[in-house]
Amino acid sequence: MHIIDRLTRPVLFAFDPERAHELSIAALKTGIPFCSGGVQNSKLAVSVAGLNFPNPIGMAAGYDKNAEIPDALLNLGFGFAECGTVTPKPQEGNPRPRIFRLTRDRAVINRLGFNNEGHAQALARLSLRKGKSGIVGVNIGANRDSSDRMADYEEGVRTFAAVASYLTINISSPNTTGLRGLQDRENLSELLQRVMRVRNEQAALIKRKVPVFLKIAPDLSEEALADIAQEVLEKGLDGLIVSNTTLSREGVSAPAASETGGLSGEPLFERSTIVLAKMRRLVGPALPIIGVGGVHSAETALEKMRAGADLVQLYTGMVFAGPGLPARIVSRLAAYAEANGLNSIAEIRDSNIKPWADRPLA
Ligand SMILES: Cc1cc2nc3c(=O)[nH]c(=O)nc-3n(C[C@H](O)[C@H](O)[C@H](O)COP(=O)(O)O)c2cc1C
Repeated sequence: MHIIDRLTRPVLFAFDPERAHELSIAALKTGIPFCSGGVQNSKLAVSVAGLNFPNPIGMAAGYDKNAEIPDALLNLGFGFAECGTVTPKPQEGNPRPRIFRLTRDRAVINRLGFNNEGHAQALARLSLRKGKSGIVGVNIGANRDSSDRMADYEEGVRTFAAVASYLTINISSPNTTGLRGLQDRENLSELLQRVMRVRNEQAALIKRKVPVFLKIAPDLSEEALADIAQEVLEKGLDGLIVSNTTLSREGVSAPAASETGGLSGEPLFERSTIVLAKMRRLVGPALPIIGVGGVHSAETALEKMRAGADLVQLYTGMVFAGPGLPARIVSRLAAYAEANGLNSIAEIRDSNIKPWADRPLA
């Protein structure tokens, strides 16, 4: 482990998790290069939804909610960074404490509830980096008190189409009451139709069809997955992100397990990978999928790709392993590609779908 990683954890773990998160953002804002950015290797480059990713490892949504440090994240070695979730109006989110470390389980429970500074702030920051290289996605959501949540997503697409490499429709946070109901067939059909209409209107103005991904929960039945797959294909979305945090507490033993909220980290790996493989089977080989949930090593990143992921994201793994994690994973992926004579890391995609997809969604 890198010296910075060895130091980061005891320092940050001395604070409560939300304060530690704020401190880590402040540290990255200074622009000091705490870690080497990792290797560049053409075998890791992947082209997905018309975007050229230098490597397949991305920072998941929720870390840089207000688009303050996307370039610092890219400098840590991430191949892409997803900002957000952002909602049209700023909102406080739920009362603190609302993030809990389950150190024994290498997991986190959060019930933040879309705390963020709103569209205008994020837009101002992203506008400043317009024209810079690096893939920066924007994850959009709905305000808790919104009278028309679907309209909030439409506004998100309208606001960020010109400054985002891609957009993520997040209807899978468990911490905004009723939000996950937008995954139900009828709601989803209307939402995706409205969102894609705005995307296409914007394309005429900005001369570019910004790719739109849908981020789903891991807590879905086989029938719900089949419905979502059909809607996503029918409405012409550009990809899926599988998955958000889970309401399940399977495989966790730390005292904080009884806290309300979404669980992330190592105990989420299995379930999110099963859902990913099932989705790959349902949508076929052409639709891009980003695999998220419990990735904490090169091996777990590779397994997401074998189960059907084109790209991989992580968040909680970095809380426990430190800011050197992305660069370490990327250099191990490069070594793996070299050692196995691959021309591209994408060659391993789908090589292990069946054992994952056949498992029940217990
Ligand atoms: C503290 C925290 C905040 C999060 N906030 C968001 C968010 O705003 N939007 C979102 O789509 N996902 C959010 N997530 C979910 C992550 O993007 C990711 O889907 C999930 O944590 C599983 O990945 P991991 O096990 O690597 O953390 C959050 C996760 C954590 C731990």
